[in-house]
Amino acid sequence: MTKVITYGTYDFLHEGHLRLLRRAKALGDYLIVGVTAEDFDKSRGKINVGQSLMERVEAIRQTGLADKIIIEEYEGQKIDDIRRYEADIFTVGSDWEGKFDYLNEFCKVVYLDRTEGISSTEIRSHSQELRIGLVGETNIVNKFKNECGYVNGVEISGIYADSPGMLDGELKGMLENTDSYDALLEKSDAVYIASNPKDHYLQVKKAIEKGIHVVCESPICLTTEDFNELHHLASSKGLVLMDGIKTAYSLAFNRMMLLIKGGIIGDVLSVDATCTSLTDISPQNLPSHLWNSICAWGPTALLPIFKILGTDYRQTLRFSKTIQGHDDFDLFTKVSFLYDEGVASMKVGQGVKSEGELVISGTKGYIYVPAPWWKTDYFEARFENPSDNRRFFYQLDGEGIRYMILSFLNLIKGKKAYNQIPSSISSKIIQIVGTV
Ligand code: CTP
Repeated sequence: MTKVITYGTYDFLHEGHLRLLRRAKALGDYLIVGVTAEDFDKSRGKINVGQSLMERVEAIRQTGLADKIIIEEYEGQKIDDIRRYEADIFTVGSDWEGKFDYLNEFCKVVYLDRTEGISSTEIRSHSQELRIGLVGETNIVNKFKNECGYVNGVEISGIYADSPGMLDGELKGMLENTDSYDALLEKSDAVYIASNPKDHYLQVKKAIEKGIHVVCESPICLTTEDFNELHHLASSKGLVLMDGIKTAYSLAFNRMMLLIKGGIIGDVLSVDATCTSLTDISPQNLPSHLWNSICAWGPTALLPIFKILGTDYRQTLRFSKTIQGHDDFDLFTKVSFLYDEGVASMKVGQGVKSEGELVISGTKGYIYVPAPWWKTDYFEARFENPSDNRRFFYQLDGEGIRYMILSFLNLIKGKKAYNQIPSSISSKIIQIVGTV
C-alpha cells in the first residue's frame, strides 16, 4: 500500500484544493491530510485564516478524499508524521517547489501543479472589512491600532479623543478628521474604547444604541447596575460587548488555565496576582488621561482569581492608598478574598513597584508565572521534587492584543470565542474596581 501525505490550511475550501487532493490521492492508495492549526501566517505576517480549525477539518472530511485527517500543530511535525504514519510520498502544490526537498531523506517528495487563478487569499479579500473606530488617548490605543495591521478583515475608521495624549503621529493626524464621538460612530461598525473609565458608560451606551459592536478596555463601566444595563442592551440588539483584557486572549494564559482545570497542581487553594507600574505622578502632576491603579491593573489581576476560584467569594479585605487631594486616584490597592475553599489576593500599583508575578498554589504543586505575568509566554509548574518541575513556552504575538481583536471579530461573525470573558466575571471586576 502506498501512503501519501499532504498539508495545507484549506481555508474556504476551493477548487484548487480539491484538484490537489484528487491528484494527491491518485499518487497512492491511502491519503493523509494534515490541516494546519496555526491561524497566524508567518510568511505574510497576518492572522489570515477566515475559518476555524473545526470548520476547515470538516470541509476536508466532507470531500471524502482523505483516509485520515491530522492536525499540524508544531514546526518540525512533518518529519514526525512521515515516520509515524510510514508515508511513502509527501506532496504539496508547486507554489512550494523546492521548499520541502529536505523531506526526501524520509520519503519521496512530489510537487503538483498549482491551479491557477484561485486561492483562499483571493476568496477572503471579497469579505467586507470591519471598520473599527478608536476611542481614547493612551499608549494602548497606539498598540491596538498597530495590532489591527496583523489581523485580516479589520480596518481603522478613525479616532476620537478628548486630547492627543500619548497618541502617535498617525493617530494624531486622524484626530482632525473626526470632530465628535457621533461622527466616529457614523463611520464605524465597531469601536475599541480605551478612554478614561469614567467616560466608558456613556460611550459604550451610545455605541450600542447605534447598533455598533464594542470592545472596551476593562472596566467596561464603574457600577454593576450600569454594566447590567449595557449587557442587556447589547444582548437585546444582538451586539457584541467584549471585555478588553488582553491577557485573557493570550495562548500561554489559556493553556495555563486548561492545565489547572486538568488538575496539574491538584486542588487550587490560593491565587496571588500582582501588577504594578512606576509612573511619574504627584498630587501636582496627575495627567488627566492617566488611569488610577485599580482601573489600570485591577481587571488584569482579578482575571486569574475569578477564572480559577470563581466569583462566589465570601468576604474581602481591602487596603488602598490614594493620592493626597485625589480621593479617586489610588496609588496602590491590595484586596484579599476569602472563599469557602481557598483564598486569593490582588495587589496593584500605579506609582508603586512590586514583583509582578502570579502564583497559583495547589495540593500537588504550584504554578509560577514570572513578571510581567500578564505578558507572559512562559510559566512553570513546580512540585516538591524539583526534577518533576515542568516549563511551558508559548508564542506571544502583540501582547495578546491581536488575539483579542481576532476573538472580537469572530464573536461579531457569530462564532464562539472559547477564551471570552464571561459577563459574570466582567460584572464582579466592576464591583471590585468601581469602589476605590
Ligand atoms: N493549492 C493548489 N492550487 C491552488 C491553491 C492551493 O494546488 N489554487 C494547494 C497548495 O499548493 C497546497 C494546498 O492546496 O498544497 C493547500 O493550500 P493552502 O495554502 O491551504 O491554500 P491557498 O489557496 O494557497 O491559501 P492562501 O491563499 O492562504 O495561500
